[in-house]
Amino acid sequence: MKLKIFVSVLIVAVVGTIFLLKSNDNGGKVMAETKSNKKVLVAYFSASGVTAKVADKLAKATGADLFEIKPVQPYTSADLDWTNKKSRSSVEMNDRSSRPAIANKVTDMSKYDVVFVGFPIWWYREPSIIDTFMESYDFSGKQVIPFATSGGSGMGDSGSIMQKLAPKAKVDNGKRFSSGVLEKDLKTWASKWL
Ligand SMILES: Cc1cc2nc3c(=O)[nH]c(=O)nc-3n(C[C@H](O)[C@H](O)[C@H](O)COP(=O)(O)O)c2cc1C
Repeated sequence: MKLKIFVSVLIVAVVGTIFLLKSNDNGGKVMAETKSNKKVLVAYFSASGVTAKVADKLAKATGADLFEIKPVQPYTSADLDWTNKKSRSSVEMNDRSSRPAIANKVTDMSKYDVVFVGFPIWWYREPSIIDTFMESYDFSGKQVIPFATSGGSGMGDSGSIMQKLAPKAKVDNGKRFSSGVLEKDLKTWASKWL
């Protein structure tokens, strides 16, 4: 009788151990499939703070490093007057070769696999300073994803223009967000590339 009990306990212990090992196995597998080792950067330009807030949320949602693209010459409210054809932004946006200078530099762009690039839509596309940014680095093999805020316009041709400026990158068309977009919605959107 004692032997029977001993054998039963032994069987339960062996089966239990195998079961536990199996379930751990699966757990490990799931982790490996979902956890990304990609290094992610959120770089953005924001003239009046709206895109900055979305960029901040996106960086938090993705665990990315955050970099603000700062103009050497900051934009004043007169510069941003789109009703004035002679304002700085109007002049820059009317000249496709315009490349406003950037004051700062990403420390080591080579370490990033995925770069989100944020900006306000100006005249239905990316501001010229984003063109400067795209030409300032070697984006070879990197996934670049534009994102923007606007008064209502979509991304326009921003993605294809940026692709031409950084031909070795893989540039997505990206997405325009409203200023109140939630961190969890940004996370869902961004997960495609992470
Ligand atoms: C020079 C200029 C041009 C703009 N052009 C557009 C446009 O074509 N379509 C649009 O919906 N909003 C346009 N806007 C509005 C901005 O895209 C919008 O206010 C944006 O959220 C501002 O972001 P920021 O605070 O990060 O600079 C323009 C704003 C400026 C200053």
